Amino acid sequence: MRYGYFDDANKEYVIERVDLPTSWTNYLGVEDMAAVVNHTAGGYTFYKSPEYHRISRFHANSVPMDRPGFYIYLRDNDNKDYWSASWQPVGKDLDKAKYTTRHGLSYTVYECEYDGISSSQKMFIPRGENVLLWDLKIKNTGDRPRALSVFSYLEFSFHHVMIDNINFQMSLYCAGGSYRDGIIEEDLYYEQDGYQYFTADFEPDGFDCVRDRFLGTYNTETNPAAVIAGMCSGSEEKGMNHCGSLMKKIVLAPGEEVRFIYMLGEGRRSEGARVRAKYSDHAAVDAAYADMAAYWKSKCDKMIIDTPNEGMNSLINTWTLYQSEINVMFSRFASFIEVGGRVGLGYRDTAQDSMTIPHSNPTKCRERIEQLLKGLTTKGYGLHLFQPEWFEEDDSEKPFDSPTVVPKADKSVIHGLEDACSDDALWLVTSIVNYIKETGDLSFADRQITYADTFVDGKDFTESVYDHMKRILDFSTEQVGESGICKGLRADWNDCLNLGGGESAMVSFLHYWALDNFVSLAARLGRNDDAAKYRAIADKVRAVCNDKLWDEEWFIRGITRSGRKIGTHEDEEGRVHLESNSWAILSGAADKEHGNKALDSIDKYLYTPYGILLNQPAYTKPDPEIGFVTRVYPGLKENAAIFSHPNPWAQAAACVLGRGDIAMKFYNALCPYYQNDMIEIRESEPYSYCQFIAGRDHSAYGRARHPFMTGSGGWSYYTATSYILGIRPGFDDLAVDPCIPADWKEFKVSRVWRGARYNITVKNPDGVMKGVKEIFADGEKTDRIPAYARGSEHDILVCMG
Ligand code: GLC
Repeated sequence: MRYGYFDDANKEYVIERVDLPTSWTNYLGVEDMAAVVNHTAGGYTFYKSPEYHRISRFHANSVPMDRPGFYIYLRDNDNKDYWSASWQPVGKDLDKAKYTTRHGLSYTVYECEYDGISSSQKMFIPRGENVLLWDLKIKNTGDRPRALSVFSYLEFSFHHVMIDNINFQMSLYCAGGSYRDGIIEEDLYYEQDGYQYFTADFEPDGFDCVRDRFLGTYNTETNPAAVIAGMCSGSEEKGMNHCGSLMKKIVLAPGEEVRFIYMLGEGRRSEGARVRAKYSDHAAVDAAYADMAAYWKSKCDKMIIDTPNEGMNSLINTWTLYQSEINVMFSRFASFIEVGGRVGLGYRDTAQDSMTIPHSNPTKCRERIEQLLKGLTTKGYGLHLFQPEWFEEDDSEKPFDSPTVVPKADKSVIHGLEDACSDDALWLVTSIVNYIKETGDLSFADRQITYADTFVDGKDFTESVYDHMKRILDFSTEQVGESGICKGLRADWNDCLNLGGGESAMVSFLHYWALDNFVSLAARLGRNDDAAKYRAIADKVRAVCNDKLWDEEWFIRGITRSGRKIGTHEDEEGRVHLESNSWAILSGAADKEHGNKALDSIDKYLYTPYGILLNQPAYTKPDPEIGFVTRVYPGLKENAAIFSHPNPWAQAAACVLGRGDIAMKFYNALCPYYQNDMIEIRESEPYSYCQFIAGRDHSAYGRARHPFMTGSGGWSYYTATSYILGIRPGFDDLAVDPCIPADWKEFKVSRVWRGARYNITVKNPDGVMKGVKEIFADGEKTDRIPAYARGSEHDILVCMG
């Protein structure tokens, strides 16, 4: 069953049936102000931080779902009927009202046709401004004049997620809502400078600032008392809960259309007045929207693919890039699942996200990389979760305490080894190498950066990025268990595998990969002693891995503190694991024979039509030596679900082995595009990867949950473009080394690298899966594709065979 379709030309997903089984989300805003919205205008908005600085309120994980939001009510003043511009919150009978939702890149449009009135409510946050615009158009499509009242509604938040949700002893009496000059101001009086505003481009005929006056004590957003009565009550109060409601009466002749712009923003009434004046000019609204479209177009244009796989084309050219960008922007702290109670940068997630899209967002990727380097300890491990502001020199005066000011760090935030995760910082090594390969900025390696522990100690101590990398690698070299395999510590990539002093196969493979990437950088920088030293360490790691981790048909997952192997033939539960097997291959540590066997085992034991299971059989008996994974319900999350994030690792692993058919089979299974017509099973949106899909051990087998905020976004993008299509920047050359299904005859990629455009055509006349026979650059045969001059454009023909 499908609920909508991909509109590739407009880069939109169009939801035609809005009674979806669960929220389908979108993200608005690409700078400081942002909003998470669903398909029925539910959601919340925040400025910089959804923990410290929320603007509108949200009832997470509640019923009815995703409320409140950004609502427009239309009321027919003749028959007193009313409905909302988005299907919810009024929830009109869908046989009588036609609702459509269009999720686009940083905007969402809610459309409605009901009783001769059509409306569209487009939501977006202009670049350069901290305001959410609601661009509303209402048209009389009937043949008689219509008298309508238009009400808006949003609920203000008390800024801090905790103050907003617990202990109202003070908070209810600490903020005031007032109306003046067409602008509602929310004054967070307990803060020295906490203000938000809501306004519109018209002179209102009524307003409400007090939530319960607008809704009525025994009503909800579904049937607000003010809308039923046909008038707002002009409520204002110092204290209590506040809303923003502005009411306007209109009479529309047949065919007549009106356009109203609502503005929900950060700042005082005076700021509201400035913004109101600006966007009362509709040309400014149109220009802001065009600017946002141009912003995304320039990102998408950095790489455009045209392959025989339409799902891959649609997702890579738009949605997976978008998902990856959103993860680099918001890390993992804003969604309907992560609702702001736990913010900051998760070390491993942010490191991986910033590895995947340096071509479309080099500035943000570099910023994230530098923040992570500052969150590294001199011991070589990263702080698992931290606020980047902690480690920034901040000379600005903070004259007041406020819940919206992120507290500065003290020594207590520098956690010890017991809280370190063994994989966290290893990811960063490749992120840095990829950043340098993308940009050509070799000097980045020498950039001086602080460390977290010495920074909070007040020491003026910096080292180069290159030295930070060495400390990361040295930490893993030292932190090995009895077999010489890296210790698992608090967790490795798998948060629920808690091996402590036990050993993690995956991390040793990851260590090998990071070493290999570092050696290439050291060699390119001419630091030959380091290249030789770390090559020798890598060779040793590889030898130990191959010696200790193979088990007949696959690689084991680890070794517990007491020396018990995890993931062997003898295990009844948790016998085969995805992470160690994909990383054995992807890292290059496994030889061809073992690699091929391991890949066959992934295919044989873990593959499902919805993607690859994380492990099998599921754990059913709690085992503290292995960790929390044994206490997760079978088939969910880390215990034998189709955990999306490692799926692309297996796709990339197949490419390393030259098995393009398997890579594509794995890619297509997880690809949400191909689940668009089975939403009764998938439930979640088909335009973003979800964190996990329930595995076959669970009654909800095939059901996807936790969209957008998952490493599978970035990794799917990276794997499809770098491994399957094989477009890989090097320090000096661009490699085109695809691994595709044998029946692909041709594909094209247009890619910008260091300012030059490469129009690449790959032909596969012999029907191979891997191997390049000949390359032609602008018609001339060549054996390398160099970095051409900025602004130039070149035709590259690659013949496989
Ligand atoms: C979640 C976490 C990520 C972790 C994964 C597996 O997605 O954000 O850091 O690697 O779960 O446990």
